[in-house]
Amino acid sequence: MNKVTAAITAVGKYVPDYVLTNKELETMVETNDEWITSRTGIKERRILKEEGKGTSYLAIKSAENLIEKSNLDPKEIELVILCTATPDMQAASTGAFVATAIGAVNAFSFDLESACSSFLYGLSAAAAYIESGRYKKILLIGADKNSSMIDYTDRATCIIFGDGAGAVLVEPTTDGNGLQDEYMRSDGSGREFLNVAAGGSVLPATEETVKNRLHFARQEGQTVFKNAVFHMSDVCDKILDKNNLKHEDIDWLAAHQANRRIVEATAKRLDLDSSKVMLNIQHYGNTTSATLPLLLADYEKQLKKGDKVIFAAFGGGFSWGSIYFKWCYNS
Ligand code: UT7
Repeated sequence: MNKVTAAITAVGKYVPDYVLTNKELETMVETNDEWITSRTGIKERRILKEEGKGTSYLAIKSAENLIEKSNLDPKEIELVILCTATPDMQAASTGAFVATAIGAVNAFSFDLESACSSFLYGLSAAAAYIESGRYKKILLIGADKNSSMIDYTDRATCIIFGDGAGAVLVEPTTDGNGLQDEYMRSDGSGREFLNVAAGGSVLPATEETVKNRLHFARQEGQTVFKNAVFHMSDVCDKILDKNNLKHEDIDWLAAHQANRRIVEATAKRLDLDSSKVMLNIQHYGNTTSATLPLLLADYEKQLKKGDKVIFAAFGGGFSWGSIYFKWCYNS
């Protein structure tokens, strides 16, 4: 019998209706459309404005979109992995809330957090469960309400991030497609360069932390940028080498959408034509755990069974990696 690999068999997405444009940001901080577009490639991002709605709302909507598109019976789902850096609340699993809300009553669920690499690591974890034979239907969701941790007076971060969610169904296949190989890394010495300092166990919330605006995401942009370019390019090179792939063998690069220039630098290192590079950062900005599944949802119609896709991500921690994947269906 052929080897069992993890296939993606369906995709869903959700982004909130509210569009925060570069023009509107010009009225909030000292910035301009030309700077944001040339430095990041972002034109607009989506924001979940309604009070009382958190990341679970985005995740549920993306899962419902997948369920509707694929006629999936949620009762068949065995595991829901919710990849997010912005859970609804501490201590209570957001994934459990999502699984119950979508009717996945026979599933267990957990949250997986590794900043912008969450979905990539989630795909690795889901694949391991599938390859071992332990579970056969896993709903993998990447969702983040980044606006909940963004300081809209800080121009270094507020222009970058947006809200959104994407979901994929992971199932076994023996047809040779699905996840082929991965190369994952992390380096904890990078955590000082991108984080939300307060609200966790190191620095719990106090009046002081609120007054000092320590519950917002802060980053040393240039340091993160340089590390992202170096490490994403490096792991892509390594995954190609490990699998004896040449650049002309690759059909798609699906790279985390943090900055258009980071994606383009990674593509250049792989010597890939721009037609093979998935890009939607102009519409959504950086949606953290949601960028990769949102790319798959937006490019679903162009993807063909057997297409060779290189996934790559880099995020806070630092955390990063790449996955070599063969696409599993024609839509
Ligand atoms: O998902 C993983 C996490 N995040 C990332 O991967 C993001 C990585 N970093 C970046 O994408 C980029 O570093 C940024 C987009 C955050 C910043 O772009 P940059 O080209 O690295 O700009 P910079 O920080 O070096 O700043 C250049 C100039 C500075 O002015 P001076 O000192 O040259 O006069 C900044 O003060 O641009 C200024 N600046 C801005 N100007 C207009 C910084 N932010 C803005 C802004 N609008 N929003």
